[in-house]
Amino acid sequence: MNASDVKATLSFSDGSPSMDLPIYKGSIGPDVIDIRKLYGQTGKFTYDPGFLSTASCQSAITYIDGDKGELLYRGYPIEQLATGCDFLDTCYLLLYGELPNEQQQRDFHKLVNNHTMVNEQMQFFLRGFRRDAHPMAVMTGLVGGLSAFYHDSTDINNPKHREIAAIRLIAKMPTLVAMAYKYSIGQPYIYPKNDLSYAGNFMRMMFATPCEEYVPNDVLVRAMDRIFILHADHEQNASTSTVRLCGSSGTNPFAAIAAGVACLWGPAHGGANEACLNMLEEIQQMGGVEKIGDFIKQVKDKTSSVKLMGFGHRVYKNYDPRAKLMRETCHEVLSALGLENDPLFKLAMALEKIALEDEYFVSRKLYPNVDFYSGIVQRAIGIPVSLFTAIFALARTVGWIAQLNEMIADPEYKIGRPRQLFVGAERRDVPPLSAR
Ligand code: ACO
Repeated sequence: MNASDVKATLSFSDGSPSMDLPIYKGSIGPDVIDIRKLYGQTGKFTYDPGFLSTASCQSAITYIDGDKGELLYRGYPIEQLATGCDFLDTCYLLLYGELPNEQQQRDFHKLVNNHTMVNEQMQFFLRGFRRDAHPMAVMTGLVGGLSAFYHDSTDINNPKHREIAAIRLIAKMPTLVAMAYKYSIGQPYIYPKNDLSYAGNFMRMMFATPCEEYVPNDVLVRAMDRIFILHADHEQNASTSTVRLCGSSGTNPFAAIAAGVACLWGPAHGGANEACLNMLEEIQQMGGVEKIGDFIKQVKDKTSSVKLMGFGHRVYKNYDPRAKLMRETCHEVLSALGLENDPLFKLAMALEKIALEDEYFVSRKLYPNVDFYSGIVQRAIGIPVSLFTAIFALARTVGWIAQLNEMIADPEYKIGRPRQLFVGAERRDVPPLSAR
């Protein structure tokens, strides 16, 4: 890490000795104050629930400038990647740090394609679930289940093993998501077809049947690929930090990714796309565009606990660049399918316009995030609402595993072990039952 000439000095009003803290500079973004010796020297912890001011690691993968609304994967702007590369190029970039040349691209595609099948035993595992189980419950189980197949063969301290785990995960996630979907509707599983593109293969596994081949629509395949690129990584968000924390114990990487899937499920994180579409459908049922005013009133009422889903972000205090790209894709997909007048899309655009002009949202810098439009695109493609977050998990898997592998290769890595401010009972004796 690059030490700054400037140091921070921490002083205490009770006259305890002050302490100098080193400062490190990133290549871009805020500097960090190194507090690792704070407890040893002062006997005090820092307090930062929700990590509002805490960098939990150093990373060279993804950078977000929340004020500018900028997202870079390995330095490349998301807009350029979304228009000039495909998802597997993006995976290569996130894993290895550079975009592939032609040969590397061919080799990487072949490598991933060689791992798309899952062990046949996974089918029987899947059968243990109720058919109406939520796909994220199923995915948490299936991804965790993968660890059982690759436990003895995976030594996380071996970089080659970590790389193989990464390829297996990237290759198998579409197969698992499609299997979970097929199982939920009672259709036979469709095996992967390795001469298709990553997104095309996924869509075929989702929508083909043994009696009818799926003819991919290029616009829809491109849209799916773009959804994957936009969700591929997002630096130290809740699910990625979960994967890092879980993996920091040295656990099986497939188990650590299953922890990420579980975290992503929540409506404040990856579950927002599902929650956003449900919200739009509810407003539509209430009367649509005319009822936006009433809905916004509820959102602003702090006693209602209603949120405008797909709006707001911990880091972006400007338009999420992924939301802009997603809105563009939304237009393309709806016009390719002749759905330009889709009422939910019209409702979403009207809602966005009203919210962006409203003082409540303006003063809090609340803008649409990627999930505001991704649900409409996925619904138009034919993906059921409950599967949206599983598709997000599929795409984010590369980010999770790239971040996990980066952490394990980092010489500064330690098991994650936060401390606490204890506010419970002080030591006391257990009274006999008759005295309680
Ligand atoms: N609707 C209404 N009010 C909101 C929203 C929203 N979507 N988001 C934030 N606010 C308000 C908060 O109530 C708070 O108001 P206050 O200052 O009067 O108390 C203020 O804006 C700041 O918000 P916080 O909750 O402190 O912001 P935080 O960074 O903790 O939360 C989060 C970020 C969880 C994303 C939040 O904006 C949210 O719940 N959004 C809706 C869910 C969503 O779309 N999540 C997807 C995130 S992107 C992703 O994971 C892919």
